[in-house]
Amino acid sequence: MSTQPFATDPHSHAEPHVIAVRHLDLDLEVDFDAHRLSGSVRIDLERHAEAATELVLDTWRLDVTDVTLPDGTAAAYHLGDHDPVFGSRLAIAVGSADSVTVHYRTDPAARALQWLEPAQTSSGKQFLFTQSQAILARSWVPLQDTPSVRFSYDATVRVPADLLALMSAANPTERSGTGTYRFSMPQRVPSYLMALAVGDLEFRPLGARSGVYAEPTVLDAAAHEFADTEAMMTAVERLYGPYRWDRYDLLVAPPSFPFGGMENPRLTFVTPTLLAGDRSLMSLVAHELAHSWSGNLVTNATWNDVWLNEGFTTYLETRIVEEVYGDELATMLLQLYRQDLDHLLAGLDPSATLLAQDLAGRDPDEGATRVAYDKGSLFLRMLEQAVGRPRFDPFLRAYFERYAFRPMDTATFLAHLTTELLEPAGVSPEELDLDAWLHGPGLPANAPVWKSAAFARVDRQVASLLTTGAVADLDTSGWSPYEWIHMVRALPRDAGTSLLADLDAAFGLTQGRNDEILVEWLGCAVESGYAFEVPRVDGALADFLTRQGRVKYLRPLYRALVSTDRGAARAREIYAAARPGYHSVATGAIDRIVDLS
Ligand code: BES
Ligand code: ZN
Repeated sequence: MSTQPFATDPHSHAEPHVIAVRHLDLDLEVDFDAHRLSGSVRIDLERHAEAATELVLDTWRLDVTDVTLPDGTAAAYHLGDHDPVFGSRLAIAVGSADSVTVHYRTDPAARALQWLEPAQTSSGKQFLFTQSQAILARSWVPLQDTPSVRFSYDATVRVPADLLALMSAANPTERSGTGTYRFSMPQRVPSYLMALAVGDLEFRPLGARSGVYAEPTVLDAAAHEFADTEAMMTAVERLYGPYRWDRYDLLVAPPSFPFGGMENPRLTFVTPTLLAGDRSLMSLVAHELAHSWSGNLVTNATWNDVWLNEGFTTYLETRIVEEVYGDELATMLLQLYRQDLDHLLAGLDPSATLLAQDLAGRDPDEGATRVAYDKGSLFLRMLEQAVGRPRFDPFLRAYFERYAFRPMDTATFLAHLTTELLEPAGVSPEELDLDAWLHGPGLPANAPVWKSAAFARVDRQVASLLTTGAVADLDTSGWSPYEWIHMVRALPRDAGTSLLADLDAAFGLTQGRNDEILVEWLGCAVESGYAFEVPRVDGALADFLTRQGRVKYLRPLYRALVSTDRGAARAREIYAAARPGYHSVATGAIDRIVDLS
C-alpha cells in the first residue's frame, strides 16, 4: 500500500483514496469505418482503504460490454447517468481482486478522438489522434480521469496495415507490417497524458534522443523546422536537471489539431502551423518540452491549479528561449505575453483572473486561460527578480526533483516556497504580496514589466509612419516575427485602410507564411474593415480559417468578425463551411462565438 497524496478532484468521479489505478494494459482495435476503438483494458489496482471492494472510474459514453475478474468471473458494475461534460461514473465490485478487465468500445462522438478523412490530411490517408487534456481521456479509456492519479501502461493497438500507430510511450519508427503495435510506458503518468495517433507517418531523427514523425509530404519541412530541439533539451537540462522520459519526439499533427502543442510524454503533438520555414516558432517546442518538468513530472493535483502546469511551463519556455536564442528575443516574447495578459485582464470579470481557481461544476478547459499561463509565469519572474537567479534556479531544479511524479497544489507549493526559498533568502511573503498573487484578482503592482529595445525601435518607426504615411521608409531588415507582430499590434484600427493596403503591397502580409504574424494581420484587417474591402484579403481570411483549426487562431478572428454586422454574416458563411473540418474542442469554442442557428 503506497501513500499517494490524492486530491479531491471536482472534475472526476474517481475515488482513488479508496482504490487507485496503478497500471493499465490496453488492447484496442482502431476501426476507421465505424469511428470506434474497441477492445479491453486490464486495470491493476492499488488499495488505499482497508478491505475496499469498489473501484470507481470515469467514462464518457463508453459502451461497456463486460467486466471480468482475474479468475474469469464477471464483476458486477453500475454505470451512472451521463453528463455532457463529466460523463458517467462507473462503479465496479472488484472484491479483493488486484485487477479487473473492462471490455468496451468508444462512441463515434468520443470527445478525445478526431477521425480524419483522407481529404483532411496532407498524405491523403486517414488519420486518428487523441487529445486527452483536460478531462477527455475518459471518452476513450475507462480510468480515473484526475491528474492526481498516476499509472504506467502497456498497450496493444491494431490499425490498418498501411498506417503507423504511436503513443505517449516507447514508440516504433517503422510500420510493423501487420498493423499490430505493442507499446510500453514504464513511467507513471496522469490520465490526461494518455495519447494515441494513427496515420501515414514517417520518422526522421533530429538528434541522439529526439526525432520527428510527420506525414511524408511535410517530413522534410518538419525536420528542418525542429532542428534546434536537441539544443533545447541540453539547455533545459542545464537549468532544471536531467530529462526523465528517455526520448523526446515530436509528432506533426494534421492541420485541424486544436492546439499549438500538447505535451504528451515522449511524443509532443504539434500543429503544422509551426512550419514557418525559419525556425521562428520554436518557443512552442520550448513550451511543450518544458512540460517534461513542469506538468509531466510535477503535476497539478486538480485543474483548479492549472497555473502550476502552465504558468511554470511558460516561465521555463521563456528561459529556454533566452538560453537558445538570446536575451533580446526572450524579452520581446515576454513583452508580447505581457501585452496579451493586460489586454485579457481588461476584459475579464475579476473572479476569472485568479491563479488558484475554483472550477467545481464547470468544464476545466474554461479555467485554462492565458491568466494561468502569463500571470503564473510573471509570478515566477517576480520571485526570480526578488531573490536572484543564483537562488531561484537551484530552487526550481530541486522542486522538480523533490516532487517528481507527484501531484502539486497551490498550498503545498506556497509552503515549499516559503521554507525553501523565501526564508533562506530573508524575504517575507508579505513584502512580495504573495497572497494577492495567488488568491487575488488582476496583477499586483510588483508584476514585472518588459521593455524590449527592439520594440522601442519598432514603436518609433510606427509613430513616424503614422505621420508621414511613407511605408517605403520602414526599415524592417532583420526583423524577427515578434517585431512584425508588435508592429501590427501598434497599427491604429481607425487610421484608414489605405495605409494597410500600402503595407500589404510592400510586405506581402496577406500572403505571409508565418501564421503567428498572419493571425495578427488578419485580425487587424477585420477590425479596420480592410478585409471587407479587398476580396483577396477576404479570401485569405477564409482560407486561413479553413486550412487550420488552432483555437488560438480561430477564436480572435471569429470574435473580430462577429463584432460587426457584415463581419457576422461572413463569419457564419466561413464557419458553416469550415466547421466539419474542426476538432470538437474548436467547435465547442467557436459555437459560442458564431451563431449558426
Ligand atoms: N497543455 C497545453 C494544451 C492544453 C491546455 C490542452 C489546456 C488542453 C487544455 C499545451 O502545453 C499548451 O499550452 N499549448 C499552447 C501553446 C503554448 C506555447 C502556449 C497552445 O496550444 O496554444
Ligand atoms: Zn502548456
